[in-house]
Amino acid sequence: MRDVTLRELFDADATRGDRLALSACGIYLDYSKNRVTDETLRLLLALAGESGLRARIDAMFAGEKINVTEGRAVLHTALRAPRRSSVTVDGADVVPAVHEVLARMAAFADTVRAGRWLGHTGAPIANIVNIGIGGSDLGPVMAHEALRHYADRELTFRFVSNVDGTDFVEATADLDPARTLFIVSSKTFTTAETMANARSARAWVLDALGDPAAVARHFVAVSTNAAEVGAFGIDVANMFGFWDWVGGRYSMDSAIGLSTMIAIGPAAFGELLAGFHAMDDHFRAAPFEANMPVLLGLLTVWYRNFFGARTQAVLPYDQYLKRFPAYLQQLTMESNGKSVTLDGRAVDYDTSPLYWGEPGTNGQHSFYQLIHQGTELVPCDFIAFTRSLNPIGEHHRLLTANVLAQAEALAFGKTADEVRAEGTPDWLVPHRVFAGNRPSNTLLADRLTPRALGSLVALYEHAVFVQGTIWEVNSFDQWGVELGKALAKTVAAELASDTELAHDSSTNALIRRFRAARDSTATTGTLDAASL
Ligand code: F6P
Repeated sequence: MRDVTLRELFDADATRGDRLALSACGIYLDYSKNRVTDETLRLLLALAGESGLRARIDAMFAGEKINVTEGRAVLHTALRAPRRSSVTVDGADVVPAVHEVLARMAAFADTVRAGRWLGHTGAPIANIVNIGIGGSDLGPVMAHEALRHYADRELTFRFVSNVDGTDFVEATADLDPARTLFIVSSKTFTTAETMANARSARAWVLDALGDPAAVARHFVAVSTNAAEVGAFGIDVANMFGFWDWVGGRYSMDSAIGLSTMIAIGPAAFGELLAGFHAMDDHFRAAPFEANMPVLLGLLTVWYRNFFGARTQAVLPYDQYLKRFPAYLQQLTMESNGKSVTLDGRAVDYDTSPLYWGEPGTNGQHSFYQLIHQGTELVPCDFIAFTRSLNPIGEHHRLLTANVLAQAEALAFGKTADEVRAEGTPDWLVPHRVFAGNRPSNTLLADRLTPRALGSLVALYEHAVFVQGTIWEVNSFDQWGVELGKALAKTVAAELASDTELAHDSSTNALIRRFRAARDSTATTGTLDAASL
């Protein structure tokens, strides 16, 4: 296939653009601009079969403990299971508990939205600050941006994740503590960054309101760890729970979505869940050749392992999806950025590509040059909507024209003869040639509704699962983040002391510089430039 071009494939089959396309859950996937033939697809589907994908899907939905390194089930699909369904983990049906939490979230969200959740001084809450990181931040942030159109504009939402104090200070600089509610979101409730920010938030509230009793009115928690929530001082009556079978990066539709529900209301949140669930049903039931997550996952495997593509661009042509690539980075790379198989063997093939992207058309005026004419093969997922939520003037027609034009230009390029025929002088021809043959998918939905967002996120969740199955990795653990966390604890203590240093010479030298700056600030009140 290396030498087969999309021009040839389209010339040979006038129906290709209609044939290699698929609709599910309100999403239309055009995958015709991929470097595949029917034979390629047949072989990729056979690979999925040989990899035991069907059994893996069944095992996940059945609540088997497929996250083997942590001994856990993987049941984000249960978070959006309808009330009357049942999903069993360790002999117990988890669906009633899911709906009980959803009902508590809804009651709380309605109270806040109605201005009936009062702060310590009796003033109604108007500002919601979610404190969390990773999956306890990226989903809420992405959903807040994506669903802003549906949000209660009377409420202000902020998100604090970075342990850099600037994040907290800037997020709260213009907020009135008497009218601010913090949602401390952390599955474990031990994540260093989140706890540091939560402590600063508590100090910020108490500084202003002066009474420890204020914590009860200004803090709620979302966590699986009631003991730590209580130890922090948040009343567990104000805690919204979830379960160890929900991975952080798969949790935006659990109680971690509390800020989303407050913003858009319980009914619209229900629509979001319905969109997730529709894609779950499709993934579970559709034959692989007509299964959107299966095809999307296999195409990534195709380019990664057979063409050596190192990255995958995700290019939403909708400003509301501006944080979607960042969200996908954790979902994809924390899931499949692995180099040992489920049974601990080192892989001898590549696993997850890097995911990245920006909304169109901004990306076009920045990095698309490389995608068109650079030396990297960058498969692209274009995401577009037939109708705009903000249909002003001719904007949506122009936006749509751009996404369609980019996919066309990447696929078919422009030959030297075509460039010459435009009257281009010979010396300039090579610069203006577009090789083309650069693959892309186009995902098209009608409008960016909560339901459409749910289906879109579930589509990628399941595509990641398909990739992980082919690569035989555990897509649900993340041991790779542990070493840095442990070392940071040691270094944090060393930065506050003068103990002997036993790191490598580079780390030792850097720590000494910070210590020198610390000491000079302590003695003179200012930083001695020489210490830098
Ligand atoms: O360090 C990575 C990670 O464990 C992510 O997987 C997770 O989403 C994030 O930290 C936050 O964890 P928690 O919700 O427990 O604070």
